[in-house]
Amino acid sequence: MATLKEKISAWSYGASPAAPPRSEPTPGQTTTPSDAAVASAQSAVGLANGAPVAVSALAPSATAASAFVQAPAVSGTYYALKTRLHQSLIAKIDLAAAEAMQPEQLRSQLRDVLLGLIDEEAIPMNEQERRSLVADLQNEVLGLGPLEPLLADPDISEIMVNGFDTVFVEKRGRIERVNIRFNDDTHLLKIIDKIVSRVGRRVDESSPMVDARLPDGSRVNAIISPIALDGPAVSIRRFAVKPLKMADLVERRALTLGMAELLAGMVKAKTNILISGGTGSGKTTLLNILSSYIPEHERIITIEDTAELQMQQSHVVRLETRPANSEGRGEISMRSLVKNSLRMRPDRIVLGEVRGGEVIDMLQAMNTGHDGSLTTVHANTPRDALGRLENLVGMGGVSLPVKPLRQQIASAINVIVQATRLSDGSRKITSIHEVTGMEGEVISTQEIFHFERSGVGADGAVLGRFKPTGIRPLLAERLKLSGVNLAEELFNPLVFNE
Ligand SMILES: Nc1ncnc2c1ncn2[C@@H]1O[C@H](COP(=O)(O)OP(=O)(O)OP(=O)(O)O)[C@@H](O)[C@H]1O
Ligand SMILES: [Mg+2]
Repeated sequence: MATLKEKISAWSYGASPAAPPRSEPTPGQTTTPSDAAVASAQSAVGLANGAPVAVSALAPSATAASAFVQAPAVSGTYYALKTRLHQSLIAKIDLAAAEAMQPEQLRSQLRDVLLGLIDEEAIPMNEQERRSLVADLQNEVLGLGPLEPLLADPDISEIMVNGFDTVFVEKRGRIERVNIRFNDDTHLLKIIDKIVSRVGRRVDESSPMVDARLPDGSRVNAIISPIALDGPAVSIRRFAVKPLKMADLVERRALTLGMAELLAGMVKAKTNILISGGTGSGKTTLLNILSSYIPEHERIITIEDTAELQMQQSHVVRLETRPANSEGRGEISMRSLVKNSLRMRPDRIVLGEVRGGEVIDMLQAMNTGHDGSLTTVHANTPRDALGRLENLVGMGGVSLPVKPLRQQIASAINVIVQATRLSDGSRKITSIHEVTGMEGEVISTQEIFHFERSGVGADGAVLGRFKPTGIRPLLAERLKLSGVNLAEELFNPLVFNE
């Protein structure tokens, strides 16, 4: 673990002023209203060639708490100033003393030193500009620099950095570009390094892809040159500070109360559930919610590539895979963790996602007494999900004839729940299928609930309704025997519950 001293020293990101933006803003790009005004103010005060700089023309127009802090038009000179101040700051602070301080105390000390340094620069600045420059520099030293204001916004669920000067976010289901940028590629690389080194990982030309986690649990993926052609790319899946609960999903019309009752009942009755969905469709969120219905007295083992699940129960062992080190050694695969977990006396195995050879071990576990296990798979329909499991078994180097393989899948998986991200950014449970067995060589399933789309509203919202298909699941009996009593009307096709 790097000391604060190392962290702060490693933090100086070079004096090169920012390169000009690579491209013109794209149409529809979010811009601060001040962009044009700032640009004209810049030319009016003659920014180039070290001429005296009116920082009112340079400083971000919003406070640090806002997500839209830095306007590309002002970046070059603003960043040069920021870099200069940053270096002076590092030269000035007593790192040993700083290390002993509480974060809040350090933040306020940094503020005092910075205000002094800004005074020395003798640049005319108003109070708000000063505050936002100080906040930027505090974020640089103590946090993740330009990412901090985005991380502070609870409405942002995803941050996507496509190179140092292009940042998109997903906010309430919609993707938009924001006026946040990094100084240059080197600056962005420093931030990536700061993120991954915290969790003992590294990224460089020889291993240009890395997964990591932020202290709050957010999942991070970074990929750099030579693989990423336009500079380092970072994707951050925010960890909801307040994770979504089943009631939130019902309120957001991701499913109906009836569907929620059925799913919760199935978890209690120890059915094996496969959640299927595309990227960002809400699989992990649903897995997390369904896991919360596992009774407190059962022993749960969770296995993930990047730990995202938040178990409520107390009897939980959490396992996470590990990539190979720089010499290509030390990898702990999903498959070996699934195998190992079977020796840990689990009542339930919750597997973050099946994406490789571990699927065969998972299926065997589900077929040999580890009922009630839960996992997810990347697929766009329940049918595709079954096909994908089959392919994954093949990829794991196990060659079973088709029929026995499908039999194994059919008896392991009881229910497939399809999660979908719709065109309006909303997430819905678009289908619940029950696996009923085999017909010849084909796995047979029946749909219990279905989301029927009827069109798109004026505001782009997807219209439609959830419909029970009228089929009463075979599992209803099993649920009853486990003490889960669902109202018969739940499956009645005449009940159109939106
Ligand atoms: N029903 C929902 N309503 C609104 N937002 C949701 C819903 N379900 C999930 N989300 C949000 O959507 C984002 C993606 O969710 P999640 O991580 O569960 O998806 P995923 O399918 O596991 O993605 P990936 O394929 O990348 O692992 C998260 O920000 C999550 O908070
Ligand atoms: Mg996921």
